[in-house]
Amino acid sequence: MAATTSTLRARVHATLRHSDDSPGGRRWRAFHLFVLGAGLLAVAISSVENLPDFIDWLLAAIIALVAAVFLVEYALRLWSAPESPRYGGLSEGRARLKWALSATGLIGLLAIVPAFAITTRTVSADSDLAAIFCILWILKLGVHAPAMGTLARVISNERATLSSVLIVFIIVLVAAATATHLFERDGQPKLFGSLPASLWWAVVTLTTTGYGDVVPHTVGGKMVGAVVMVSGILVLALMTGILATGFAEEERRREYLRVWGQVVKVPMFTELGTVTLSEIVGKLRVRHYPPRFVVVRRDEPGDSMFFIADGEVEVRLPREPVRLGQGGFFGEMALLDRLPRSATIVTTQPTTLLVLYASDFYDVAAHIPSLVAAVEKEARRRRQENEGSRAIPSDGE
Ligand code: CMP
Repeated sequence: MAATTSTLRARVHATLRHSDDSPGGRRWRAFHLFVLGAGLLAVAISSVENLPDFIDWLLAAIIALVAAVFLVEYALRLWSAPESPRYGGLSEGRARLKWALSATGLIGLLAIVPAFAITTRTVSADSDLAAIFCILWILKLGVHAPAMGTLARVISNERATLSSVLIVFIIVLVAAATATHLFERDGQPKLFGSLPASLWWAVVTLTTTGYGDVVPHTVGGKMVGAVVMVSGILVLALMTGILATGFAEEERRREYLRVWGQVVKVPMFTELGTVTLSEIVGKLRVRHYPPRFVVVRRDEPGDSMFFIADGEVEVRLPREPVRLGQGGFFGEMALLDRLPRSATIVTTQPTTLLVLYASDFYDVAAHIPSLVAAVEKEARRRRQENEGSRAIPSDGE
């Protein structure tokens, strides 16, 4: 009985995980997104004044329903928290407490607060409160964006560089605010009479927002303004560059790990030494395909070859189709012969492929001749097989 509960709990935990790629997980995410969208829309509309009574009632019912779904979700997540590998080794109670105090746990709790507000009828009575709930629900949208975790990691990885740019930003800000305060305080005492007032102008100018509500009039003030505007562009460009490079680096690292996870399933690769293997891992890309997906089409130009890490594909040859399973490869003939694709290839089940693009293929050919020799040998055999099968009908004629 305990084992059954644990299996059920593990299944619930896996399905509710936002990174879960199973059909159940995908269905749950779609439903969650729909409920969240409906809830946010209802809260937004409910803030409009003088709505007819029945619409008010309908919106309150939708909000209550959405809150009920979030309540059930919260309860299930709390119950299944001990299944998380993150809390391995902790007692069930401590695992649940840790989850409840995590960012997801706290956001989940805040999202069900509307349930209590609805029962006390505060939402329809106070539109400001409704807007606050709307903001709380929007936080749940964050879990649908896998890039949120990446962003947090990028900021953490680049914190030293980012903080240097931030310090430059603060130096320019305070220096500019002080200089304009000195130039403008006599002419515009209300707007530049104090440092905090000048700081407002400096922030608006340095971030290149420029509301135009506060403008320097003296020549000195305008010159400072010009320097601040140019510095603002530089600082923003630096920030953008740092974050973009950080994102690209992080994505490259994640892709590398994803490829390592799949490469071990292909015997052709595991036979290579670790150093050679790590060289090719950097050139492969992981792609997941659903069943009946056309991966390559006959007569189209070919710019890549594929290794099958998981699943199966069907090579549609004129005589009879051939199936290739885990560890097999295809698409090599177009790269070796520099000819269009010789056959159409379709997945027969969910399939994971490792893609090697043409430019990298020629690079691998130069560095790992043993691998390419094996690919060439199989390509020769396939060519002969295809030529043989083409000869049969004409012989028979
Ligand atoms: P390419 O011509 O690039 O695209 C179609 C692919 O089908 C081809 O490369 C081979 O990888 C694969 N292929 C062609 N003929 C055969 C065969 N007889 N057996 C297995 N695979 C084949």
